[in-house]
Amino acid sequence: MYTTELGKQPNVKPIGPAEDPALLEAFEARVAADEFIEPKDWMPEAYRRTLVRQISQHAHSEIVGMLPEGNWITRAPSLRRKQILLAKVQDEAGHGLYLYCAAETLGTSREEMIEALHSGKAKYSTIFNYPTLTWADIAAIGWLVDGAAIMNQVPLQRTSYGPYARAMVRVCKEESFHQRQGYEAMTELANGTAAQKRMAQDAFNRWWWPSLMMFGPPDENSPNTAQSMRWRIKRDTNDELRQKFVDITVPQAEYLGLTVPDSALKWNDDKGGYDFGEVDWDEFYAVVRGEGPVARERMTARREAWEQGAWVREAAAAHEAKRRKRAAA
Ligand SMILES: [Fe+2]
Ligand SMILES: [Fe+2]
Repeated sequence: MYTTELGKQPNVKPIGPAEDPALLEAFEARVAADEFIEPKDWMPEAYRRTLVRQISQHAHSEIVGMLPEGNWITRAPSLRRKQILLAKVQDEAGHGLYLYCAAETLGTSREEMIEALHSGKAKYSTIFNYPTLTWADIAAIGWLVDGAAIMNQVPLQRTSYGPYARAMVRVCKEESFHQRQGYEAMTELANGTAAQKRMAQDAFNRWWWPSLMMFGPPDENSPNTAQSMRWRIKRDTNDELRQKFVDITVPQAEYLGLTVPDSALKWNDDKGGYDFGEVDWDEFYAVVRGEGPVARERMTARREAWEQGAWVREAAAAHEAKRRKRAAA
């Protein structure tokens, strides 16, 4: 659903002396020529580590992102909404699986990644640590959260690592359906009864700022951005993407008759975009540290799902062992 490097992370280590300068030069030339780097190709250790961190964070975000919406499947207001929501939550599971596979091609295992998530070592998008209080939150998530995800992910279709770029092509098609269904649900609420309009505005108020946080810390506090841009892991900076999102979303809110909860929001003719207020970065870093309103509930739900799914993994492994034995005989 989302990706960007989260929080203040240690800088990627400079390239060690152990790395062959000729190999490095050839690698950098390929990246500069917009060639894809594939799993068996030589790559600098820091490139590999940055990708493992970014792709696994992205995968975790897809999987944890199923939780706030999964909560509403039984309470969707109509059969049509229920079908749409079921399909969307299932898509997010698929996104997580493609991404875990892409990360595995870099030499990390599924078990290591899951263990890092469950122990709290790995990060995932801060957005999923906010609660979903009413049905309008589900509409707002589709419109804003999946909308922000598309903004982040479209440039990643041209990211330099082949398996990640290819996973993004399908993911982006599905995210675009997610954004549209959210906007459609929001349109219905915004044009509904007075109570529905209030619900829509209330959800918008609560999800607007966390959505802007999805693009990660401001560029001046994003130490890995320059290296990631150079290696074409990232194609745009956090602030560039945030600006794009605001410029596209504000007219959509106006069309719905909703008020953007930002008194500093103003069209700026010179830059051809909106000026907007400062994100509460203290809140952002607190949520990154695991202090989000429902962070604990999310991890408890994930751990329970993992434990309750143990028999499925064991059955699949037993079936595979039998199949191999039969094939060998
Ligand atoms: Fe997704
Ligand atoms: Fe999505």
